[in-house]
Amino acid sequence: MTPNSQFKNFLNFFHKSPGRLLKYIELLTLKDKSTTIATTDKKSLGEVGVVINTKCNLKCVWCHREEKHIQDSGYLERNGNLEKLKKLLPELKGFECIHWGGLAEPLLNKDIYELTKLARKYVPRVKVTTNGTTLVPKVVTKIIESGFTDIEISLDGFDGETNMKYRGSDESKVIGYLEDLSSRSDIPLQINSVVSAVNIKSLWNAIDKLKNVKNLKKMHTIPLFITKHMNDLGIGPAKEEDHEKLLKHWKERIDHYNLDIKLSPDMEDVTMDPIVSMKRLHNICYTVYEHPFINLDGNISPCGRLQHISFDNVVKLGFDKAWNGPKIRKWREEHLHGNYGTYCQRECHMKNTCPSRLNNLKEFMGSYDEDLRVLEYDENLRVNK
Ligand SMILES: C[S@@+](CC[C@H](N)C(=O)[O-])C[C@H]1O[C@@H](n2cnc3c(N)ncnc32)[C@H](O)[C@@H]1O
Ligand code: SF4
Ligand code: SF4
Repeated sequence: MTPNSQFKNFLNFFHKSPGRLLKYIELLTLKDKSTTIATTDKKSLGEVGVVINTKCNLKCVWCHREEKHIQDSGYLERNGNLEKLKKLLPELKGFECIHWGGLAEPLLNKDIYELTKLARKYVPRVKVTTNGTTLVPKVVTKIIESGFTDIEISLDGFDGETNMKYRGSDESKVIGYLEDLSSRSDIPLQINSVVSAVNIKSLWNAIDKLKNVKNLKKMHTIPLFITKHMNDLGIGPAKEEDHEKLLKHWKERIDHYNLDIKLSPDMEDVTMDPIVSMKRLHNICYTVYEHPFINLDGNISPCGRLQHISFDNVVKLGFDKAWNGPKIRKWREEHLHGNYGTYCQRECHMKNTCPSRLNNLKEFMGSYDEDLRVLEYDENLRVNK
């Protein structure tokens, strides 16, 4: 008998991460009887997301910035307060990596270099996810000097048109910047590409276009999270079999050029990402136990997509207390009881199995939320609508 090959890379996700593995098994085994407490072992958690601004120079079609409830929440168009961020960083000592990200372009915050230098005193790795449009040689020099250890760049098309159409940036220009960065440093690079029904074809030639980016180590494909804005535009996810075909083709091109680039997910585990499979097969959101995310106000948030929602404050309580504070535990409790609000249903395909509790989420969603309701599955788009 052959073991299920889809599980090939499954355990890599829990490598050196006993706290996360324990919680995963607890949730799978005990389901709604699980505790609402997540591990505070920072080595197990590995990475913490930190938001340092909420401004952006692009207007990508799939971005959550386009969502009315986020725009109305007053969360966008702000710059992080340097002094407050400096107070936050010591709380994060013990993590492997601080990741500057969020619903913004982090490189627009000019304090990012000072913050990165400081962050490196507390953690071994500092990562940024960027749209790459500002990586001109002068900026690259500052990035190298300030001690970034990992850079992720988002590109969603490699055919000279699609990236411009959906992201508003010229991929050839960005690739040129990455070639320059690679010629001057060893910082490993990862390309993030959203995979949707409308851009999947344009991703086909990615490896051919990126082959001269010397430091490129990983191609990360992200299945589309469906926002209301996209629902309204009729944009849906790509088929899983097409996603697999794309990765197979990329693998062939990587081998053809003899490049050292990993695929994430790999060809065989498109559907077996531990977080995605927990959601789809068991209707449990594991993200809120394994991926701490700190929003612009220093508060723990459910995840990057819902970062305008604030739980407890990391500077006031310290990381451990905030990460298992009363607010996020209440949120986890609602999830465990099958109470998923509009956003979790739509974006992560969660099913609300307990509509009578919907009102319990009001305290987090506030007045800028849509009406909380149970969404219906749309056969065409293959999402909850
Ligand atoms: C929100 S952006 C923030 C960082 C930076 N501005 C950038 O674009 O790389 C973080 C990542 O989320 C991806 N993203 C945006 N909207 C998405 C969606 N609806 N589904 C999946 N990924 C999405 C982006 O392409 C990017 O790789
Ligand atoms: S995905 Fe990134 S670059 Fe695009 S609008 Fe959102 S924050 Fe800006
Ligand atoms: S949107 Fe909801 S279900 Fe999805 S990761 Fe965030 S908290 Fe979890």
